[in-house]
Amino acid sequence: MPLVLPASTLQHPRKAPALNWGILGPGWIAAEFGHSLNTLTRSRISAVGSRSFERSEQFVKRYGDSATRVYDSYTQVIEDPAVDVIYIAVPHSGHADLAMQAISAGKHVLVEKPMTLNAKQTRQVIDAGRAAGVFVMEGMWSRLLPVGNVIQQVIASGMLGRIISIHADFGAKFPEDLTSRIYDPALGGGALLDVGIYPIAFSVMVSPAKELLHASGRMTQTGVDASFTAVLSNDDGSTANIFSSIETDSPQAAWIAGTEASLEVERPIYAGSKLVLRGSDGSILDTQKFTQDSPARGLGWEAAHVAWCLGEGLTESPVMPLDESLAIAVTMDQIATDLRRN
Ligand SMILES: NC(=O)c1ccc[n+]([C@@H]2O[C@H](COP(=O)([O-])OP(=O)(O)OC[C@H]3O[C@@H](n4cnc5c(N)ncnc54)[C@H](OP(=O)(O)O)[C@@H]3O)[C@@H](O)[C@H]2O)c1
Repeated sequence: MPLVLPASTLQHPRKAPALNWGILGPGWIAAEFGHSLNTLTRSRISAVGSRSFERSEQFVKRYGDSATRVYDSYTQVIEDPAVDVIYIAVPHSGHADLAMQAISAGKHVLVEKPMTLNAKQTRQVIDAGRAAGVFVMEGMWSRLLPVGNVIQQVIASGMLGRIISIHADFGAKFPEDLTSRIYDPALGGGALLDVGIYPIAFSVMVSPAKELLHASGRMTQTGVDASFTAVLSNDDGSTANIFSSIETDSPQAAWIAGTEASLEVERPIYAGSKLVLRGSDGSILDTQKFTQDSPARGLGWEAAHVAWCLGEGLTESPVMPLDESLAIAVTMDQIATDLRRN
């Protein structure tokens, strides 16, 4: 097997079918999504719902068009027959309830990461989506970028040999604003659900976790996790070391060490800028760079993936499967339990 990095097999988002999106929660990430959707795809924002009419209106002025509907509730967007698919972009604590409402209304749903606050809620959303026959996906956008596509091809090819170890981290120093959602336990704050999910999802993508061996870390004054390290034992016999923090920056990188070769993903882990393939002697065999004008531009790839899936009549993404969202949630529950104990 040639030890070279494959090219991405993704088609440009502009080639994906056009969809009418309904946005719930016109905050920070919704703005990035709107910008990226308009820049990269042929889809449009059909309706926006906020707890405030003015905030919806402001958002629509920037990212909507003359036909975009402005609502002062989330329910109106969910019930709007012109909306094909709902993008849930409120803080984590609101994901499960809104996803269940959208599914009950027969709408397809893209739920921002994390899908919900815990495995119990995630299972409920998955079961409801499957029973209703609608498309449901967690917004783990990193996988839907060209870099994610290349990483998945490398893993599937077996070119790394037997996987021995995975290292992945995401630490980012957030402003110490104890009133922000990042620090608020009621909104699902803390490193684990916000940034820790990226290295965990990376590790689960390479190899499903069998058990959590250990997790320990520090809590904030508000009682959410500030930083943690977790060690996982995986189904294939490999181990994974995960670090995440909201109080310090970290390399935000990942590597997979195999018996034949290793793969390094350079910062940032959520949208890797460069891949390095090394042979078993450590020599560099191949590299590939990935450029984006801004990380947010990448969200259009995620929106396009949803459009491709719907165009093919799928109710689940083969790239971000629901069982994997559940596996991530189960691992995060175990880490949260350990962090409270240790
Ligand atoms: N994919 C990524 O790269 C990425 C990056 C950042 C965040 N996210 C995810 O996106 C979600 C939202 O994050 P964000 O940073 O965009 O959050 P945010 O700006 O703080 O909030 C998003 C919107 O949610 C609505 N909202 C509903 N209930 C709320 C409450 N109780 N408190 C505050 N706002 C509430 C607000 O809109 P209205 O009041 O106008 O309705 C707010 O503007 C999170 O789950 C996060 O994990 C993903």
